[in-house]
Amino acid sequence: MEIRNSVALVTGANRGIGAGFVSALLERGATRVYATARDPATLAAAVASGEGRVVALELDVTDPAEVVAAAARCGDLTLLVNNGGTAAMTGFIGAASLEGARQEMEVNFWGQLAMVRAFAPMLAANGGGAILQVLSIGAMTVFPGVGTYCASKFAAHAMCKGIRAELAPRRTQVMSVFSGAIESDMSAKTPGPKISALTHAHNCLGALEDGQEEFYPDFKSQRLREAYRRDPEAFDRALRLK
Ligand SMILES: NC(=O)c1ccc[n+]([C@@H]2O[C@H](COP(=O)([O-])OP(=O)(O)OC[C@H]3O[C@@H](n4cnc5c(N)ncnc54)[C@H](OP(=O)(O)O)[C@@H]3O)[C@@H](O)[C@H]2O)c1
Repeated sequence: MEIRNSVALVTGANRGIGAGFVSALLERGATRVYATARDPATLAAAVASGEGRVVALELDVTDPAEVVAAAARCGDLTLLVNNGGTAAMTGFIGAASLEGARQEMEVNFWGQLAMVRAFAPMLAANGGGAILQVLSIGAMTVFPGVGTYCASKFAAHAMCKGIRAELAPRRTQVMSVFSGAIESDMSAKTPGPKISALTHAHNCLGALEDGQEEFYPDFKSQRLREAYRRDPEAFDRALRLK
């Protein structure tokens, strides 16, 4: 996958990690970026920065009609950045209701799967292309207190492994990103240093061009991955004691 001259679509492009992807795609020479958001009015800054290369589209990934309408507008797509997500920040037992957990699954799994199903045919028709799937380090193991979010990211991780195999004959590259700590509204209460959304996007796009399949884009995710790999059971035991 080459970013230069690619045509990309980014979900949740109005802020945070998604906005970082729009900027990095432009900097790396994408021909066109479909910047999508639930409220297209929030994409004004992205459009203004694009010098004619950014097209704003309304897209709630949980709305089947909007997913179909977006696919109909983007027949030239070569790269899907499946980024939009939500976090209720709840455990499995303590939350007053399961509403947040259901919404996490709705957006982070079912919504991302709907996008893959709608856009995979045109990626194949345009030569294969790529799907960049924003997961989380919470798809590697389950962190106490945000267990339901991790469950939705585990489900999306399973989807990535499945579609990687299913789309290989169509020459569509699938890269899963296990992000750790990136500056955004979602991570506002996460302590410790974070990398910027723009740096995160450049790291991811570079890895995609290198042909990586599972990518840990920042120092926090890389550190946790190394510790987990050394001894997964000890890692999980230590999380329980926190
Ligand atoms: N920040 C981190 O440290 C971190 C770490 C690991 C993984 N991630 C993942 O990175 C992705 C982006 O998160 P972020 O950190 O940039 O958080 P954020 O600042 O809260 O942004 C979330 C984005 O997702 C969009 N979104 C939510 N529900 C949607 C829906 N139904 N359809 C389409 N878009 C929807 C939001 O749109 P609205 O503006 O309309 O709400 C917003 O653009 C998520 O998948 C998240 O799980 C983030």
